[in-house]
Amino acid sequence: RLLGVDRVVIYNTSCGPELDLLFQSYSRTGFLEIVPWPIDLFLSPSWGWLYSLSGGDVHYFGQLATLNECVYRSMDRSRYVLLNDIDEIIMPYQHNNLMSLMNTLQQQHPKTGVFLIENHVFPKTVFEPSKRFHLPKWDEVPGFNILEHIYREDPDRTKYHPHKLIVQPRLVEQVSVHDVLKAFGTTYKVPPDVCRIIHVRGSLRGKLDAKELNEDTRLWDFHEKLIPNVDKALERAGLLRSEPAL
Ligand SMILES: *[C@@H]1O[C@H](CO)[C@@H](O)[C@H](O)[C@H]1NC(C)=O
Repeated sequence: RLLGVDRVVIYNTSCGPELDLLFQSYSRTGFLEIVPWPIDLFLSPSWGWLYSLSGGDVHYFGQLATLNECVYRSMDRSRYVLLNDIDEIIMPYQHNNLMSLMNTLQQQHPKTGVFLIENHVFPKTVFEPSKRFHLPKWDEVPGFNILEHIYREDPDRTKYHPHKLIVQPRLVEQVSVHDVLKAFGTTYKVPPDVCRIIHVRGSLRGKLDAKELNEDTRLWDFHEKLIPNVDKALERAGLLRSEPAL
């Protein structure tokens, strides 16, 4: 939202009680649109992304259907759609927000309708040592604090390297997870120094320590707005115990 996104659509297969509270409070403001997606009531979906390993009636909870549904749902109301996971932040590195990034990219590539953004992993096991953003008030909140993870892996460029997409929905006919299958315009790979995905998760390159990783504090540029806004969202959802009254 701090990057200028003004609507989020989530396809809800199922969720735990804390996330449910958070989603309900975001939907009340109209910012979040929840599409009920209880696919397991109708089919037995595979639980992993690799069909040959997981089997089932439909690939990975019907992810491909949800992505395409989202593109068509957005066609008459959004200039751009980001197709990414809930734990991936599509982060501009030379612009303050996504709209000014897209204005620049679109001017340079007027016929492009699909922009591919590289995924970059920030291992959740490697912590920033000063603990500057270790906030005790968040200790009881489930999950982890992305501000504490500022070390980025170099992707293994000898292997397949996944992207996620920013698309102009009106120029897209059919999408997949990491690429577009049918589109009217051209596709452009955005250089990682212009925009990349900040993805805090388990390491993909084995056990590396901070010295073997790249320090990247881009998220910290947002801390003054991010922290109070996260507090507000957690409070609204009842996930932050408020300060005891004096
Ligand atoms: C998400 O789906 C689950 C399972 O159908 C439901 O229990 C839950 O309330 C839904 N949450 C939201 C925010 O829609």
